[in-house]
Amino acid sequence: MRMYDLILKKRNGEELSKEEINFFVDGYTKGEIPDYQVSSLLMAIYFQKMNSRETADLTMAMVNSGDILSLKDIEGIKVDKHSTGGVGDTTTLVLGPMVASLGIPVAKMSGRGLGHTGGTIDKLESFKGFSVEMPEEKFIRNVNNIKLAVGGQTGDLAPADKKLYALRDVTGTVDNISLIASSIMSKKIAAGADAIVLDVKVGEGAFMKTKEDALHLAKEMVSIGRNLKRNTVAVISDMDQPLGKAIGNALEVEEAIETLKGNGPKDLLELCMTLGSEMVVLAEKAKDKNEARQMLMETIESGKALNKLKEFVAAQGGDISPIDDTSLFPHAKYVIPVESDRDGVVCKIHSQNIGIIAMELGAGRATKESTIDLAVGLVLNKKRGEKVSKGDVIAYIHANDMEKAEKAKAKILESYVIEKDYEDNIPLIYEVVTK
Ligand code: URA
Ligand code: CA
Repeated sequence: MRMYDLILKKRNGEELSKEEINFFVDGYTKGEIPDYQVSSLLMAIYFQKMNSRETADLTMAMVNSGDILSLKDIEGIKVDKHSTGGVGDTTTLVLGPMVASLGIPVAKMSGRGLGHTGGTIDKLESFKGFSVEMPEEKFIRNVNNIKLAVGGQTGDLAPADKKLYALRDVTGTVDNISLIASSIMSKKIAAGADAIVLDVKVGEGAFMKTKEDALHLAKEMVSIGRNLKRNTVAVISDMDQPLGKAIGNALEVEEAIETLKGNGPKDLLELCMTLGSEMVVLAEKAKDKNEARQMLMETIESGKALNKLKEFVAAQGGDISPIDDTSLFPHAKYVIPVESDRDGVVCKIHSQNIGIIAMELGAGRATKESTIDLAVGLVLNKKRGEKVSKGDVIAYIHANDMEKAEKAKAKILESYVIEKDYEDNIPLIYEVVTK
């Protein structure tokens, strides 16, 4: 088999066989096929696309390129949740404890954030002493005992995806549905999930800018899941404004805690209830989504979910005292209000810009080497559809550097679109895709 022939075949719009897909994924992972030929093939895939069979084969080729985590020693159906990446998305920190407190095992492999979307591990490190480094046996023991553990990438999961994603990033071939779908699903399957709930974000702050594209991506991932015998559900949710109010590490952990105490932002709670009820049904702990919702709500009302958070943080070495007293979290030196310069209604908050502003304050990494300031970020005081008067505070900047805060202020004002009249009719949940 020659790579040259595969490139020509795809360039001419033909289908690649399973053997051909295995050949290039395997050869590229081993370093036997050069970047320039794979780049060329990726561009051909970008224009000619892949069908569902090719996409499932690409997914499995990437899964088989490295270790596959075995969760067979964990009792119960392991349901994983994945978000395609949003701004201020704190759902994992809320959902994990809620679902685990119902006895459903949540064995989560997570990553650090890069760019304008934060990573769950960075957020969890707001708890002094918290660590995701642990031997596989401890990870499994924790899931069996507590039902919740968050690990860093152990083992070498889907190394082919790592290499291909990095190459796509510099060759203009990231935003192809088959390539995104196979990239995400390969990592979930290698991490040992039995069932998968996907949160596909749509809007200006997301990979998918339109509902049509998001729906297409959702269907592709659900279809891969079915092809590979993993029950998969995809929820399409709004990312035309940041989720909740807080953007930043410790700020988002505080927001998650408030949500578990029953005082969280409505949109964050609702998204957690939607994703959570899909997880509970896939784990076969409820007969339908309504029953699942009631069960989840009860975990908040009874304090069970909050206690689960404490158990989980303590088991991974974290100091749990900020859970009862959030003033013990790292806090920024300056908290600066941003006031509206006009009367009107908020009709848009450019979420990508908001994510970048938080990153520039130090909440995220511009490059892999950057260090994170856990305390800084933004708290949005007004969201889409809310009325504001000139002088009202629309957001707070939490900063450790006055110069950076001043720059952020101007950019926040630019990120808020405030018009005379606006009626908010963008839904939080667009659709749930099950087949
Ligand atoms: N996230 C991934 O993991 N892979 C992609 O290709 C895009 C988003
Ligand atoms: Ca948030």
